Amino acid sequence: MQRFIIKGQKPLSGEIKVNGAKNAALKFLAAALLSADKWTLSNIPQIEDIFSLAKLIQSLGVDLSYNKDIFQVQAIQDPKTDLDPDLAVKLRASVLLTGPLLVRRGRVFLPYPGGCAIGQRPIDIFLKGFQSLGAKIKAENNGFILTTNGLRGNKFFFPQVSVTATETLMMAACLTQGKTLLQNTACEPEIPFLADFLNQCGAKIKGAGTPFIEIEGVSRINGGDIVMMPDRIEMGTFAVLAAACGDNTIKITNCQPEHAQSLWLKLKEAGVKLKFGPDWLEVQPVKDLRAAVDIKTQEYPGFATDLQAPFCVLMTRAHGVSLIHETIFEGRLFYTDILNHMGAKIIMADPYRAIVVGPTQLYGQKIISPDIRAGIALLIAGLMAKGETVIENIYQIDRGYEKIEERLQGLGADIKRVT
Ligand code: EPZ
Repeated sequence: MQRFIIKGQKPLSGEIKVNGAKNAALKFLAAALLSADKWTLSNIPQIEDIFSLAKLIQSLGVDLSYNKDIFQVQAIQDPKTDLDPDLAVKLRASVLLTGPLLVRRGRVFLPYPGGCAIGQRPIDIFLKGFQSLGAKIKAENNGFILTTNGLRGNKFFFPQVSVTATETLMMAACLTQGKTLLQNTACEPEIPFLADFLNQCGAKIKGAGTPFIEIEGVSRINGGDIVMMPDRIEMGTFAVLAAACGDNTIKITNCQPEHAQSLWLKLKEAGVKLKFGPDWLEVQPVKDLRAAVDIKTQEYPGFATDLQAPFCVLMTRAHGVSLIHETIFEGRLFYTDILNHMGAKIIMADPYRAIVVGPTQLYGQKIISPDIRAGIALLIAGLMAKGETVIENIYQIDRGYEKIEERLQGLGADIKRVT
């Protein structure tokens, strides 16, 4: 098993480039199955989740190949409809394939999807959404078999805002006869980015990026080429890392600062100096973080839940008491135990609230990465800590961050990957 060995407290400075967005690229790979023509996707991050989904798509008999960041997908023949449980369990994004497969083949077997252990992560909204479009659902073999003789457009109100459920039903509705009105949909930037490309390929989607999306079904989706948008969560993660460990200005390039306004507000409140360009930002770290800041995660454009753990690590350096309120997932604060093991003072008030008392000095420890975002947060803690930190189970970090140790070495970090 590979692990990272980090020697903390090295002065970091310089420039780091943001990669293509994982949570956009995964959806494009799935949406490509709506078409029998070729989709060429570039600026795709070369991370474990992408390779896992690519393998799952190839197992359906779809022609998928890639060379570095360029992926080509063409589902000429009708794809198989049983998702391989061993592959689907590796990531939550496997659920995205149900939309294209159901609408194109009239059937899909969905084993329970996997992904980060950050909560129960049910799929009830997906199932209710498909039922509203006329699908039949049968629970079988640790999953569900969804069938239809042809979906019909309908109105569906999401009982809870769900990013991938919004994307999955939006994809299915593209080839569903009639008009579908999705209400209370997620507004994350990856959704209008996907909808715009689907429209370029012949779909008729209006309102993506707002809580109301209207889709007029069409008979076919054509091929096309697209460059993936930059990863707003990588951008935010690097900004927090710079604020927590930077010794001098750190420039983050190839990004879209407008996609993390809620984070910039909180970093400024904490006393971090930020400078913005059209596709870059500079973080001027401060020795003492003036204020401990409360955060509450919310759907976009609120504070992103995927940035909650890194921000919590930063707050261990701030003077005062911060409330970290996680409203999206019930299991996304357990990493705070590991931070306390490193010297932090964090009290779990309940599964959704943690109170950070700062400032505390963190000390290197041997730790295990629990999931993607807690994993990168603990890596940041290791960079801040006195002494050596060893992080096991770094597959979880590789799921979301490409060659992260090489990119951080470029900022002066003393981090090594050892087998
Ligand atoms: C997406 O997950 C992202 N993953 C997550 O990023 C991100 O944290 C999350 O959105 C919230 O922004 C991808 O895009 C691949 P949800 P998703 O459905 O769609 C509940 C990362 O680290 N819910 O918006 O799975 C759910 O339990 C990952 O990159 C149901 O109850 O999240 C949660 O409480 C982690 N029933 C809430 O909705 C359902 O059928 C929001 O989850 C579906 C969801």
